Amino acid sequence: MKNIILTGDRPTGHLHVGHYVGSLKERVRLQNGGNYDEVYIMIADAQALTDNAEHPEKVRQNILQVALDYLACGLDPEKSTIFIQSMVPELTELTFYYMNLVTVSRVQRNPTVKAEIQMRNFEASIPVGFFCYPISQAADITAFRATAVPAGEDQAPMLEQCREIVHKFNSVYGETLTEPKIILPENEACMRLPGIDGKAKMSKSLGNCIYLSDDEEDVRKKVMSMFTDPNHLRVQDPGRVEGNPVFIYLEAFSRPEHFAEFLPEYSGLEELEEHYRKGGLGDVKVKKFLNNVMQAELSPIRQRRKMWEQRLPEVCEILKKGTEKARAAAAETLHDVRHAMRIDYFENDNLLN
Ligand code: TRP
Repeated sequence: MKNIILTGDRPTGHLHVGHYVGSLKERVRLQNGGNYDEVYIMIADAQALTDNAEHPEKVRQNILQVALDYLACGLDPEKSTIFIQSMVPELTELTFYYMNLVTVSRVQRNPTVKAEIQMRNFEASIPVGFFCYPISQAADITAFRATAVPAGEDQAPMLEQCREIVHKFNSVYGETLTEPKIILPENEACMRLPGIDGKAKMSKSLGNCIYLSDDEEDVRKKVMSMFTDPNHLRVQDPGRVEGNPVFIYLEAFSRPEHFAEFLPEYSGLEELEEHYRKGGLGDVKVKKFLNNVMQAELSPIRQRRKMWEQRLPEVCEILKKGTEKARAAAAETLHDVRHAMRIDYFENDNLLN
């Protein structure tokens, strides 16, 4: 059996450093690690439309931005197939068949859907398409026979639901589909990177993001304005590291070589944390270090993004080629699915027997 990756993002805005440590970085690692035969990276425009039906232009404009963010992070079109969801209509067809294998109450129990309905204040006015997006996501994953989905923790209930659909399909129609597993970031801080204001989630609507496309000065300003421990008022006060966004970011981003380069008086993060806890270490010093760390990580990404911004026709060509390849792969699965369901009526006299 081949090892195949599928994952993706909704194009509703530029991607931020939460996306980066939560999944993008891992994708690039997996792409280059040589353990996967195929890597599919999907720009989930159809899913983005499930709650942006009135603003298709917002989704359209962000497709290229997300593609630029991907290329900037090091996703390589020679190794990864980057494609646009809505241009693979087989995914919609598969969703339609899967809808019959899932109950309304099961989708209602999906914790991610629950949380998102609350966040959007949908209550009684949930668009049917939005409600069904976990089912469409199962179609995305299985159409490519993905064995692994690198994604954030919030996607775990989606994977759970996907596996249930795979079981159901295989038990009703015979072994056809592949069961996927989720690949979560190893580091707790990467899994749940808070916003710069300390709120649990980095999100465009909360205005607390550091974007991959932010310039050096924007990143510096955002880092220097980050929330820390509210009780750490004077340098000599003892401070809290737990739940302190600046330290959570350091856990997610800093590496031993950053200490050697920017803060050689400390052996590493542990010693820095200890000093902060004890008192005598000011927030400004820690933030300056974090800024150096973030700039070191983001500057190559920023440079690659600038380079690709000069080559937009090439980016469009990458999406077009990727989408063609993705469509061919999904079409093969759909062929098997129709065959398993015996709804491939015009093949091999199926309609007659
Ligand atoms: N739900 C994902 C997001 O919000 C996007 C997505 C759509 C996805 N289909 C997927 C992720 C399949 C992983 C696998 O960004």
